[in-house]
Amino acid sequence: MSGKTRPEELAALKKTPGTGTAPDVGEDPDDRRKRQSPGAGASPDPGEPETVIRTKDLKKSYLTDAGAFEVLHGVDFSFRKGEFVSIMGPSGSGKSTFMNILGCLDTPTAGTYELLGEDVSQLSRNQLAARRNLYLGFVFQGFNLLPKADLLENVGLPLLYARVGAEERRSRALEMLRKVGLEPWAGRKPSQVSGGQQQRAAIARALVGEPSLVLADEPTGNLDSKTSDDIMSLFRKLNDEGLSLIVVTHEPDVAARAKRLVRFRDGSLVEDREVSPRRSS
Ligand SMILES: Nc1ncnc2c1ncn2[C@@H]1O[C@H](COP(=O)(O)OP(=O)(O)OP(=O)(O)O)[C@@H](O)[C@H]1O
Ligand SMILES: [Mg+2]
Repeated sequence: MSGKTRPEELAALKKTPGTGTAPDVGEDPDDRRKRQSPGAGASPDPGEPETVIRTKDLKKSYLTDAGAFEVLHGVDFSFRKGEFVSIMGPSGSGKSTFMNILGCLDTPTAGTYELLGEDVSQLSRNQLAARRNLYLGFVFQGFNLLPKADLLENVGLPLLYARVGAEERRSRALEMLRKVGLEPWAGRKPSQVSGGQQQRAAIARALVGEPSLVLADEPTGNLDSKTSDDIMSLFRKLNDEGLSLIVVTHEPDVAARAKRLVRFRDGSLVEDREVSPRRSS
């Protein structure tokens, strides 16, 4: 949430550069305890790396019956702390494939992906999961909330995975629900709230671990335009407070809230430019 890079954790990561033999960082609950207090610090710390993401000639192929099918054809992209980027492009152009790699949910076939200065392109699934837990929050298009858990439990889930104790989990999840305006619904199940409220809960869940970066793949895809605008206003506000954000969207109105627009076409990054963000509808 703070957008802070936590130099001590970065140092720990650098000691284990994906050898597969060293213990996974992030699995250790002490890593979590080292984290700083919640709240988005807007002022950059000069001691922290400014570049959060750098991809070089990033490629992804899938094996199909007809042979290898290249979906990303060599993407060069870098992202600095505090930025708010929207990614647009036609269906099938590779946006989700790219986001899944950035989110450490998948690995590239070729090229490099540096996350906070570490090449994570070839890490194992466990090592990627550790980086994901430490640094990233992911908002999925379909919310992905647990139906049997209430919103408070859903939002606290990443903290449970990080072995944060019950009391701290509860108070941090409640604070996040408050931040997205959902505190009164903390005890409701996802099926008992609206689509927009579910999506806000999904955003709270992505934020609760105080990630360095939040990745959202069509976070407003299933929502009406008013709710979609509310969600984007929330992202805008969080970015103003210092959160780094990458959002995939099909909607120009949604993209208009970001400060930078990246466009994909046929698996290539074809446009990357600064835009003046629109503040409200
Ligand atoms: N597991 C897979 N195996 C084979 N091909 C895949 C796989 N996943 C995605 N693809 C293909 O990769 C291409 C890019 O898909 P991707 O999901 O990244 O597109 P997208 O830009 O996110 O599209 P949308 O806007 O519809 O979500 C598509 O042609 C898709 O069919
Ligand atoms: Mg997609």
